Amino acid sequence: MSVANGAKIFKTKCAQCHTVEEGGATKQGPNLWGIIGRVAGTVPGYAYSTANKTSGVTWGEDTLFEYLKNPKKYIKGTKMIFAGLKKEGDRNDLIAYLKDSTA
Ligand code: HEM
Repeated sequence: MSVANGAKIFKTKCAQCHTVEEGGATKQGPNLWGIIGRVAGTVPGYAYSTANKTSGVTWGEDTLFEYLKNPKKYIKGTKMIFAGLKKEGDRNDLIAYLKDSTA
């Protein structure tokens, strides 16, 4: 597990649409501070898709691992345009980074 690799992946694949720090800006996607343990679709003021909002998902290591593999398959109708991270190692590294940086 490499948090450094996760940070690199976040910077290159996620940061154009998401911030991680507390009180971070809304970009195309919602701020991800506090994402681990949070119910999907609950950042106040962010205009989620109905699919995301009503998914019933709680974001944890297991759900993020599946979601980030293929977001559109995991939440059908999501407006997050992201092909997914196919490598398990990359997903684990990214989740380790998110655990470190969003709480
Ligand atoms: C939603 C993570 C890449 C745009 C989300 C959510 C997570 C997430 C966890 C759900 C948030 C919630 O329910 O509060 C990530 C990660 C990425 C990534 C870790 C990189 C691997 C991207 C990219 C874009 C994007 C590249 C823009 C092109 C969005 C949008 C939503 C979203 C628009 C809201 C989805 C909806 O309401 O259906 N992202 N994301 N994300 N993300 Fe991403």
